Amino acid sequence: MLDAGHRLRSANKAAMNAFGDQVAAVLRHPDLRAAMARALAGGASEAAEISLPVPVERTVQATVLAPGRTVPGATVLVLSDRTRERAVERMRADFVANASHELRTPLASLIGFIETLRGPAADDPPAQRTFLGIMAREAARMQRLIDDLLSLSRIELVEHQPPSGRVELADLLNTLLPGFAPRLAERRTEMALSLSPALPQIIADPDQLSQVLHNLIDNAIKYGREDGHIEIRAEASDRGVVLSVADDGPGIPRQHLPRLTERFYRVDQGRSRAVGGTGLGLAIVKHIVNRHRGRFTIESTEGEGTTCRVWLPAAGQPEDPSA
Ligand SMILES: Nc1ncnc2c1ncn2[C@@H]1O[C@H](COP(=O)(O)OP(=O)(O)OP(=O)(O)O)[C@@H](O)[C@H]1O
Ligand SMILES: [Mg+2]
Repeated sequence: MLDAGHRLRSANKAAMNAFGDQVAAVLRHPDLRAAMARALAGGASEAAEISLPVPVERTVQATVLAPGRTVPGATVLVLSDRTRERAVERMRADFVANASHELRTPLASLIGFIETLRGPAADDPPAQRTFLGIMAREAARMQRLIDDLLSLSRIELVEHQPPSGRVELADLLNTLLPGFAPRLAERRTEMALSLSPALPQIIADPDQLSQVLHNLIDNAIKYGREDGHIEIRAEASDRGVVLSVADDGPGIPRQHLPRLTERFYRVDQGRSRAVGGTGLGLAIVKHIVNRHRGRFTIESTEGEGTTCRVWLPAAGQPEDPSA
């Protein structure tokens, strides 16, 4: 509440907690002053969205209540911090833009080749074969992208609802790992599994957990080095199990690490595309681990390799809702 001279007269606790050291900056803000002048002139409520640059950028919705309706001679402001909402809106807009862009690239190539097949290459079977090969690859890429987007949105739908299944990791790994043999052979990479004895069962959705392992191992093969070595470990830790996938590839420069789980974020766009990546693999891992109330970390040293770790709670713990 401001007095007639627009000096602070009183503020509730929430306002002081949120804006205490920045009240002066808020009250000085030209957009807020303009809203106060409009409210005073028009006798109705007026709002302004102002941004506070320091100490961290915040977006504040300020409403000047209709003068006359409140305390005589005073101006009452309602401030609400909208930083989070704005960030979510921005992320949503970025996501739509990124997803459209990712789909547009292969689509443009398909359209281009269709034109070529109808025109210049209409009577050229060898060229037709080459182009159809490229078209099949581009179409498969679009299909993968859509599958990943759908699986991401399915996971998000149930993210607040933790899984209730029990998983025996040894069984899961022993079923999953043989499927990688052909790709490992192609890259002449060895994969070793080290399972601690007597691992507890974990609470997990087996399909989602398989997807986590699949995405991490897929990355280790794709971005690790040729003739490399991949190590998969599972060990009991802190009332749960830590699963790790380590490669001895070129690693990831430090500055990229915090952003790797963002949708479509890739360290090297060209390389990821060339190996058929959509940039969604780690985002899917993050959401699945969140749903499992687990933890996901990525450590990497350039020139030495990358280790991804997933901690998941063991079954039968006090926080286990099914216990
Ligand atoms: N083990 C790794 N070593 C080096 N870089 C990695 C490793 N794992 C991931 N990255 C980098 O992180 C990026 C994001 O990985 P992510 O799995 O999310 O996407 P992707 O592999 O490009 O596509 P997708 O997994 O959807 O096929 C990759 O493009 C790559 O640059
Ligand atoms: Mg990947």
